[in-house]
Amino acid sequence: MNHRLTNSEFNRLSSFITCNYGIKLPEKKKILLENRLQKRLRELDINSFGEYIEHVFSDPGLQNELVHMIDSILTNKTSFFREKQQFEFLKDEVLPSIYKNKSKNDEFRIWSAGCSSGEEAYTLAFLLSEFKSNNSDFNFLITATDISTRMLKTAKKAVYPEKLVIDVPVHMKQKYLLKSKDRHKKSVRIAPELRNIIHFEQHNLIEKEYSAFDSFDVIFCRNVLIYFEKQTQHEVLDRFTEKLRKNGYLFLGLSESLASFNLPYKLAMPSVYIKTATKSTHKAL
Ligand SMILES: C[S@@+](CC[C@H](N)C(=O)[O-])C[C@H]1O[C@@H](n2cnc3c(N)ncnc32)[C@H](O)[C@@H]1O
Repeated sequence: MNHRLTNSEFNRLSSFITCNYGIKLPEKKKILLENRLQKRLRELDINSFGEYIEHVFSDPGLQNELVHMIDSILTNKTSFFREKQQFEFLKDEVLPSIYKNKSKNDEFRIWSAGCSSGEEAYTLAFLLSEFKSNNSDFNFLITATDISTRMLKTAKKAVYPEKLVIDVPVHMKQKYLLKSKDRHKKSVRIAPELRNIIHFEQHNLIEKEYSAFDSFDVIFCRNVLIYFEKQTQHEVLDRFTEKLRKNGYLFLGLSESLASFNLPYKLAMPSVYIKTATKSTHKAL
């Protein structure tokens, strides 16, 4: 049986979600929210959204259910080598130029912000490991964060159906992927040496402080800001700007852009920006 969300129930949930997670949920997303939460109601054997909302905002609900509610709302679509031209640019332009200007002990630091189930972070790990095999003194650190507990669990486990790795080049598959011993499973696992070099952490991008994170040479935040209100996008971008080194690169999704923000970047290729000043000098309009 399908349950219906009333307008006031929708408003209560959508303002809570926007306020705490940045995700915009205008009126037209009501059916989407309703559909995405149906499964939770069924799993909990709850018969109305009114009852579900009471549960989610109760003390035990805030402790145990909130994480499931947020997980069922988030859009987690991702893939290995998604928007491939950006990875080509990273490999051919960004890595050589940053490597050339780095002192020996200075490690290359990259952040996949909104990493979903890990495909973006592992794609970075493949490329950086390949770069290191040609430049042995190149050291790097990958941080990968997401708000979703479920996605981070998948990312850390690093087991993917074989059909999801078709875009990984053959020589990288041979080097960095392990086949399941159970031949019926048709899954692969990322090799332990790559799993161990990524620091996966839970982080909410709308938090005011990113104090746990040091400065980065490159930040990937692709297909995440698109879900946020404009003001939230600006605040997140300001914090990225603080965490990015001068001449560092910010990679956004192909449908995202900095065009409407006054931020100290210049365009390097579509949706990829290079930071031109050490600190953000502009506030939201
Ligand atoms: C569509 S996926 C993008 C994954 C990957 N970056 C890519 O482009 O393939 C968006 C991710 O952003 C995460 N996300 C949404 N709101 C967030 C927030 N407030 N803080 C951190 N991550 C968030 C979601 O959990 C989801 O995994």
